[in-house]
Amino acid sequence: MSVSKSLLTFQFDEQEFLECYWQRHPLLIKGALPNWQSPLSPEELGGLALEDDADSRLISKSKNGWALKQGPLIPTDFQRSDDWTLLVNGVDSWVPEVASLKQCLRFLPQWRFDDIMVSYAVTEGGVGPHFDRYDVFLVQGTGRRKWRLGEWCDDDTPRIKHEDLNLLQNFETSQEYVLEAGDVLYVPPGMAHWGIAETPCMTYSLGFRAPAIAALLARWTDKTLEGLDPELLLEDRASVTNPPRPGEITSAHWDNAREAIQNSMAALDDGSWLGEVVTENGECAPPPHEHARALCLHTGARLAWQAIDDQCCVYANGEMLRVPIASQTVLERLCSDETLTPEELASVHPELLSFLSMSGALVSLD
Ligand code: SIN
Ligand code: CO
Repeated sequence: MSVSKSLLTFQFDEQEFLECYWQRHPLLIKGALPNWQSPLSPEELGGLALEDDADSRLISKSKNGWALKQGPLIPTDFQRSDDWTLLVNGVDSWVPEVASLKQCLRFLPQWRFDDIMVSYAVTEGGVGPHFDRYDVFLVQGTGRRKWRLGEWCDDDTPRIKHEDLNLLQNFETSQEYVLEAGDVLYVPPGMAHWGIAETPCMTYSLGFRAPAIAALLARWTDKTLEGLDPELLLEDRASVTNPPRPGEITSAHWDNAREAIQNSMAALDDGSWLGEVVTENGECAPPPHEHARALCLHTGARLAWQAIDDQCCVYANGEMLRVPIASQTVLERLCSDETLTPEELASVHPELLSFLSMSGALVSLD
């Protein structure tokens, strides 16, 4: 994908959004994308849902209740009289024009972005009342959809009994909005929401993911253990100055042990665990062919970098390489979906090109 001349942006105050709404409150952005047109038709989305490799599903509601059919779907799945919605995940990996919507998210950390899901609903269609664990911008592509927002939810919020769907048992509407093409609704993690199509409509969900703190801690701990001498023992230092009562572990003993752990974690922290965890599970492209002249970032690959003093740590699909700080410009260009030559990549560090190729982050355009 090459960079388009005029980048797409949501028409709103990004700074105010970050300070007042992000991860805190929902926000309707009326006319957020005034000149944008849905790049996909319902038929094109339906065609994608028939592909073996596409992650698609169809959710329907009839007098018998809610039903889910996982893709790949077949054409007759769409010939039905109940209220249905078709959803396809990761459409940004299939359609460059859909991936262009990511330009609107430049004010947020790129490594938090997950994918773009596209849905098509018939009138009255919807996926039911639910909450997501992650942040989402719901971009109205075509038609009109009423969005109801409900309460804050967590794992204890009651759900209906259903084998396949995670729908809320109760829904108390707190706010209601009708979205038309180009409108955007931001929904923070944990907030109940329920979209019902007022006309046949398409929605583009720009989703984010956040790493589990447990995953970060596990990685940091693993890295510390790799570097720690297993024979190193806890020293008592000043913790024994005040004699304990018989059998007692004093708070000074605890503090001393905690401090020893924290010191080891800090001393052996090579600063790589966050970047590695957040770039894991990206989509890997096969290495580009030897004679490729134009290379760019593979959509779906996860690439991030971090400047530390005179070095740059590059993370590509969970792997890490240290390169000189001068590589930063090239990495920024790659992360902005610009096209680069192999020489540009190789010139900043001899291993950068092969590292990015082998980690599945590059595709050739020729
Ligand atoms: C939809 O597009 O119908 C569902 C999006 C969502 O609720 O996250
Ligand atoms: Co949702």
